[in-house]
Amino acid sequence: MAFDATDEPLERRPCRERTMKIVFLGDIVGKPGREAALTVVPILRAEYAPDLIVANAENVAGGWGITGEIARALHAGGIDVVTLGNHTWAKPDAYDFLGAETRVLRPANYPPGAPGRGWGLYKTASGLTVGVANLIGRIFMEPLDDPFRAADEVIAHLRPHTNVLFFDFHAETTSEKQAFGWYLDGRASAVVGTHTHVQTADERVLPGGTAYITDVGMCGPENSVIGMDVSIVVERFRTQLPHRFQVATGGPTRVCAVLVSVDPDTGRAAGIERISRLV
Ligand SMILES: [Fe+2]
Ligand SMILES: [Fe+2]
Repeated sequence: MAFDATDEPLERRPCRERTMKIVFLGDIVGKPGREAALTVVPILRAEYAPDLIVANAENVAGGWGITGEIARALHAGGIDVVTLGNHTWAKPDAYDFLGAETRVLRPANYPPGAPGRGWGLYKTASGLTVGVANLIGRIFMEPLDDPFRAADEVIAHLRPHTNVLFFDFHAETTSEKQAFGWYLDGRASAVVGTHTHVQTADERVLPGGTAYITDVGMCGPENSVIGMDVSIVVERFRTQLPHRFQVATGGPTRVCAVLVSVDPDTGRAAGIERISRLV
């Protein structure tokens, strides 16, 4: 099923004058990532005037999980909606605050009864409604419910309210992420990948109008192994003994994000642009 098409030439479409912009920041890792993200958010807001800013924050609390206090700090710093991933439940606090917090989403394909919600509808300052959803993959991940079928259900809930649907697909493998993007092409405005913490260079708008990137990358320490202290991770690989990972400290922090522009009338993406900055 594709978005509603129009025969009007592009230049005559009224929606062209009010293209909607959504900024999405990749996994925020620990305090360095949090501080850098909150430094860059006002800059991105000034540069692009986005209608909505979404960020994945599954690693924001010391490298694993999130707390209610940190979620509130992210919202206060200009991040409108937070998505999560496989580290959602790392902090006990999550079990309580996710139930009450409508602007923090955990993957929708946890089994029924899990605290919190996997999708939400958000009204922008300009009066537009955006549906945001978070799903998690199953390849080299925990065996959760089928994200493809769950996405169909999410779309059935959101589509009556808006054509602008933004998906964070939190998954390990490129193939599962690409397949998920193609599966939603023409039904979602954007499918952006998270979880691997390394930004990929394959951003594009798929033929049906869905903006896609395999992984947005992270907001975290530049001199690290996906945000963690290099020497600890190397020792773990060398010795195969358990080592407690720690968020890397010192040096610059990289903020990885994407800017997606969407026609709010049809929900079709007009473009996707990678953002990668050192702070
Ligand atoms: Fe992550
Ligand atoms: Fe993850």
